[in-house]
Amino acid sequence: MEEKRLVINYVEYGTLAELPDDARRLMECAMEATRSAYAPYSKFHVGAAVLLADGTLVSGSNQENVAYPSGLCAERTALFRASAQSPEQAVVALAVVGYFGGGFTEASPCGACRQVMSEYETRYGNRLAIYCYLEGGRIRRVEGVENLLPFSFGADL
Ligand code: THU
Repeated sequence: MEEKRLVINYVEYGTLAELPDDARRLMECAMEATRSAYAPYSKFHVGAAVLLADGTLVSGSNQENVAYPSGLCAERTALFRASAQSPEQAVVALAVVGYFGGGFTEASPCGACRQVMSEYETRYGNRLAIYCYLEGGRIRRVEGVENLLPFSFGADL
């Protein structure tokens, strides 16, 4: 028996203004996308945006359904939209943010979205930079889904 430890690497930015320009624009795109959420059941509006290798930004928002599991998270809406529109373009970064009760709030990808992100890393052969809006306007960045989903099934970079 051997006890082991896993390290998760991430960085936090204090404000949106601290982000590099391309990441700030990505997060602003995700913030704008919260406006298109269809979330009559949870009232939790989520916006996501992905950055493609050619610089294109593709946004998505959560789309709920009265049969709850039939809805889709903002992250997968954005990723599937990007893949359907531009399958030849690698996905290089993703940003996500929540909007609830009149203000932006924290959103962190669910397990299913993390698994889908992992698929795109394998597919395009590059790590994804993932930006999550945190309480108080801070932003967390991880480089690589392995920092969100360790021991994942099928990850192969
Ligand atoms: N949701 C997302 O779209 N992304 C996340 O990162 C967290 C959760 C959605 C699913 C559902 O429509 C609502 O937020 C409440 O869970």
